[in-house]
Amino acid sequence: MIRRAVLLAFLALVAQPRDAAVAASARVEALLARMTIEEKAGQLSFETADWSPARDLYLSDEAEERLRQGLIGGFFNMHERHVARRAQEIAVRETRLGIPVLLGYDVVHGYHTVFPMPIGQAAAFDLAAVEAAERIAALEALGDGVNITFSPMLDNSRDPRWGRTAEGAGESAWWGAQLAAARVRGFQTADLAGPTAIAACPKHLGANGASKGGLDYTSAEITERELREAHLPPFRAVAGFAACFMAAFNTYDSVPGAVNPFILRRILREEWRSTAVVMSDFGALDELERHGVADGPASAAALGLAGGLQMDMATRFFATELPALVRAGLASGADLDSAVRTVLALKERMGLLDDPFARFAASEEPGNPERLGHRAAAEALAERSFVLLKNAGDVLPFARDVRTVAVIGPHADDPTEMLGTWIGRGIFSKPVSVAAGLRAVLGPGVEVIAVPFAAFDAVSDAELETALAAARRADAVVLAVGEAAAMSGEAASRTDIDLPGVQSSVARAVVAMGRPTAAVVFSGRPLAMERLSADAPAILMAWFPGTMGGTALARVLFGLAEPTGRMPMTTPRAVGQIPVHHDRLPSGRPAVKWPDIYSSNYIDRPTTPLYPFGHGLGYTSFAFSPPRLAAGTLDASGSLAVSVEVRNTGARTGTAMAQLYLRNRVAPISRPMQMFRGFRRVTLVPGESGTVTFTVTPDMFAYWQEGDRFAAPAGPIDVMIGPSAGEVQTAQFRYVP
Ligand code: BGC
Repeated sequence: MIRRAVLLAFLALVAQPRDAAVAASARVEALLARMTIEEKAGQLSFETADWSPARDLYLSDEAEERLRQGLIGGFFNMHERHVARRAQEIAVRETRLGIPVLLGYDVVHGYHTVFPMPIGQAAAFDLAAVEAAERIAALEALGDGVNITFSPMLDNSRDPRWGRTAEGAGESAWWGAQLAAARVRGFQTADLAGPTAIAACPKHLGANGASKGGLDYTSAEITERELREAHLPPFRAVAGFAACFMAAFNTYDSVPGAVNPFILRRILREEWRSTAVVMSDFGALDELERHGVADGPASAAALGLAGGLQMDMATRFFATELPALVRAGLASGADLDSAVRTVLALKERMGLLDDPFARFAASEEPGNPERLGHRAAAEALAERSFVLLKNAGDVLPFARDVRTVAVIGPHADDPTEMLGTWIGRGIFSKPVSVAAGLRAVLGPGVEVIAVPFAAFDAVSDAELETALAAARRADAVVLAVGEAAAMSGEAASRTDIDLPGVQSSVARAVVAMGRPTAAVVFSGRPLAMERLSADAPAILMAWFPGTMGGTALARVLFGLAEPTGRMPMTTPRAVGQIPVHHDRLPSGRPAVKWPDIYSSNYIDRPTTPLYPFGHGLGYTSFAFSPPRLAAGTLDASGSLAVSVEVRNTGARTGTAMAQLYLRNRVAPISRPMQMFRGFRRVTLVPGESGTVTFTVTPDMFAYWQEGDRFAAPAGPIDVMIGPSAGEVQTAQFRYVP
């Protein structure tokens, strides 16, 4: 029973602006005209394929029957070619209208071959490699019948407590936007209808990364400026070509993402003119009641349709409720038609209406990932994702003439832990553990003693004794520490983001053996690891490096490759400093020293981070000159060249990464102290100098005005360049629009 009064009240609450209708072809219009109201509502329903230990993936008899009746628009959790193919055959050959289905899966950082976690990919600062990784992931997923992926996750994270930080690009909206475009291109290619393209469904639209307390499924009650400047830019960057968007679970301005007309209609449709399908996150319509905005499936479905949602993942509320709602005048028939039109238009854009089996044909011979170079690509990207946080006394790279290497800790020899979370079918990818990687790279002449621990947060007396004995004997010691893979990802937020349990104490004891020791830290977020940072001479951030992680690590630790990754997120000293991102607003009383009184300081710790945004060392050192500006002013249509000299002051050839930060120094509103806006790499031999030049344009320091308009007023602009946000030198020009 639909409680009419309650429902009308709900709908009045979300009195939404009408979006620009998605224009559809004559073929789509003709299909739409033939559909019953039930078929229309069914077309908006994305169901989960069934799974049981005995049968693995399958379609239940009931699901097949609903599919035959035209009540399903797509299936989620597809990872078996024969099941996907069967679903498509039923949809095309056994339904009244023969409309093909979408076949979805979360391809988050690889499918068979697992690449580093997205936060690690962001640390690689290599757009071409990330795009290539997504192409490989798409090709592998295609083999199992996947034609749409719930990826990439574009949520900006300024809170490392949030477990899903691991799935994103870190804290810079600018860098997140560059990566977003590369990743969507990697999945979709330039031609979404191509037989090897898969549709991307970037997620989670609506400031999911701003969830309070770093908790999943809650509220992101931030200002519209923060929404527009810090959280939406990656989505905006792909709005013109992403096939789909997934709405966030969390509320923004007290309205849950799946039914939020301000975001789904006004911003996405009206301002960005996106024609993408908007999908709810898993079961989101069912969560509306717990959010306190719906009182059952009918009101949830009505809110969803009115709010701007086109596909309902997993609840079937659209399919079961919308026909009666539309007939009763409690949901708009025009909205229903418009949603179906959008879904059919996507299927047409994907080429599914022309040849629903083209992708199956194109992926008949999947080939061996090794021969296809997929493993080599994963190894190369893993190598680039590592960030050398500390290297006192040049402990790294280890000398190659070692005879014995000890690898100690919970991550010493566990291949599947290398993969992280959301691993697709990567469990079958023969991942390489740290010990196995060391053995493969160092060869049979070197003894590799692995001392794995059974637990992540504890160590037995016997394990510790074995570890210390191994360290004593070794010429080089690798401390393989960090979080377990399951400690980041969805619903894996932490209140304490230091190394788990006793790991810091174990590390201290091992370092005290006095052997050349490097800590390799696995995690899905920056860790507030003050103790390890004080104790370990060298620290290499490995994130979760994927299938080829062990090999890539061995190569970097022993100097066959240089660490060139940089932190895409600021590392706090302690949880209490969060948020501590580089693009914070200034204080009226900045903390210039510590301890200090009556300044913006904590009394128990400095305000500075443990490691700044952009931090990362290599195996040599560099000196940066102050920035040199080509002119003192810039106008609205102009551009300004800014250069620095970088000199290799160390003893090895190496690659520096110069980073550009901007600040509107004086403006009508207070602006962030630094905004990361570019990077350039230069490889130099010892003693060599090179010039790095950036081009600054007004869009790089424009900020949100109103609607979708970004602009900068006249004023002085600080240009900061250096090897990280924490070590910049500044020059200034005047913007005269
Ligand atoms: C997650 C999404 C994911 C979906 C389907 C949800 O719980 O929030 O990111 O795409 O499940 O796996």
